[in-house]
Amino acid sequence: METAAKQLQPWKGIINQYARYLPVSDATPVITLCEGNTPLIPATNFVEAIGGKFELYLKYEGLNPTCSFKDRGMTMAMTMAKERGAEVVICASTGNTSASAAAYATRANMKCVVLLPNGNIALGKLAQALLYGATTVAIEGNFDDALRIVIELGETGKVEVVNSINPARIEGQKTASFEICDQLGRAPDFHFLPVGNAGNITAYWKGFKEYYSVKKADRLPRLFGFQAAGAAPIVDGAPVAQPNTVATAIRIGNPASWQGANNALKESKGHIAKVTDAEILAAYKQIAQTDGVFVEPASAACLAGLIKCHQAGMIPEGSVITATMTGHGLKDPDNAIQNAGFEPTIVEASKEAVMKVIGL
Ligand code: F0G
Repeated sequence: METAAKQLQPWKGIINQYARYLPVSDATPVITLCEGNTPLIPATNFVEAIGGKFELYLKYEGLNPTCSFKDRGMTMAMTMAKERGAEVVICASTGNTSASAAAYATRANMKCVVLLPNGNIALGKLAQALLYGATTVAIEGNFDDALRIVIELGETGKVEVVNSINPARIEGQKTASFEICDQLGRAPDFHFLPVGNAGNITAYWKGFKEYYSVKKADRLPRLFGFQAAGAAPIVDGAPVAQPNTVATAIRIGNPASWQGANNALKESKGHIAKVTDAEILAAYKQIAQTDGVFVEPASAACLAGLIKCHQAGMIPEGSVITATMTGHGLKDPDNAIQNAGFEPTIVEASKEAVMKVIGL
């Protein structure tokens, strides 16, 4: 049916935009919330503040429909699940995957079950899973425990797993690399991103390579990934039994796409390192207060990493750098309020009282 929306909204989501690079056909029942097309924001003040002589652009994935990059993978995973006739989808999550799965499952008229590590989910993400109507199970364990259970449940054949072990997720997420190249008019020299379960670094590398191979990008970037110091299995070379970090999104001790990350790092001549919670929170605050970009702590891990790389002289002058801001800061209001460094001043309701406080 011809609808008015065809006129009103030229952007119809990443599957419509990049169909020729995705495993879909004209008959595929696309499940979309019009995700993607997120801005690439120049972070000039941040670069100046750290004394950098390079260009930095933030791929602000917090502006996706459920406020994280997961929507790119979820439109594909849910579309493929629908095409196969699945009725129930399931995922383990540190919060964003569950929010996205819950929204897209609703859209697809499918039942959604999410397994979360009890007590270690940012408030906004929990709110999303509940409001979208997912069956929300908080397990007394961490993300790695939840993913193990989900994989076991997937083996029963009764549920469709929509974690990034599902290849459709990687296919969808690779479109962020396409958008970056389309927006910049070239590929960056470096791409920075946080690493948790390692699906995204795997997807970005696949995307950059594919765009390069069809000559839509002029070069291949080096991928620089960052883990939180208390949850850095790839950096340390061994699973972490009790991962811990303020950046709950990447509180993961045994990443499912470890091999994918290793390939991306090796093939792109990349780099992976860890950053402390203090460094993450400092970068988190800095990017909000220099450039007005509010991200969640996990996203800021790669900015903390950029500061360190810059200080170590690893970034040549004139480099073009992109960095994925994986999730919106409003996902985690507790961390924002605790770390802002400012508190509201409470005064009586008079002009004089306000003038006194603001120094007029
Ligand atoms: N940043 C945010 C905000 C995330 O939510 C995640 C992962 C990552 C970075 C790391 O990406 O896992 O592909 O390496 N969140 C998953 C979740 C684990 O359940 O929402 P990754």
